[in-house]
Amino acid sequence: MTDQHPTRSTEAFFGRRKGKQLRERQAEGLEKLLPSLRLDLHSQPPADVADLFPVSVDTVRLEIGFGGGEHLVHRAEETPSTGFIGVEPFVNSMAKLLSRVDELGLSNIRVYDDDATEVLDWLPDASIDRIDLLYPDPWPKRKHWKRRFVSQVNLARFHRVLKPEGLFCFASDIDTYVNWTLLHCRDHGGFDWQARQSSDWLTPFEGWPGTRYENKARREGRSSAYLTFRRV
Ligand SMILES: C[S@@+](CC[C@H](N)C(=O)[O-])C[C@H]1O[C@@H](n2cnc3c(N)ncnc32)[C@H](O)[C@@H]1O
Repeated sequence: MTDQHPTRSTEAFFGRRKGKQLRERQAEGLEKLLPSLRLDLHSQPPADVADLFPVSVDTVRLEIGFGGGEHLVHRAEETPSTGFIGVEPFVNSMAKLLSRVDELGLSNIRVYDDDATEVLDWLPDASIDRIDLLYPDPWPKRKHWKRRFVSQVNLARFHRVLKPEGLFCFASDIDTYVNWTLLHCRDHGGFDWQARQSSDWLTPFEGWPGTRYENKARREGRSSAYLTFRRV
């Protein structure tokens, strides 16, 4: 854990942490499961992040801002031999995820309920196989673009924690954010965009279950882009 105090240029959470009051069952789930599934960033990370999971896993993925958790749960069920770290500061979303984890008995998920940059700074170098950043808060107004999660500071974090050849997958329905991410990755130089033709970024990732924000965007008439970068 770094001793540095977060500053506006290093932290990346600007949203709401709480919504409407939790239902009793959700509050109980949060109280019961969060303490055991939450990463303890005050402890040293294990040399092998697979050891964060009580089951044997051969790859580890990080999902930043999982929202309703539909994608995270789907992936965790689909690939029990992959460990997932899900990060989401919004309490109601965390409660919802944990109640699904409990219902389904998933043991390949660990969570963190605050800013993902803290997890990124805690993780060892070259420890993660894939980072999913799916429909990050778009901050569509130009004066707010600097709040976007994709920044040179955060790409440097991604680059440090991803294994060589690891993937950074990004989805958004906001054109300016898609362009922003392409330009930032190009300028960083350590991410190779995998698309060769337009269908590559217009087609969702393999096995894609969709997300709540994507459904909302579609209802409002916005299509999405799916960008895959390989860490070089
Ligand atoms: C637009 S929502 C998308 C949620 C989900 N991925 C989906 O597609 O439905 C963005 C999410 O990112 C979370 N978020 C924003 N800043 C974050 C940060 N610094 N670290 C982790 N999560 C963050 C928000 O709380 C919110 O739930």
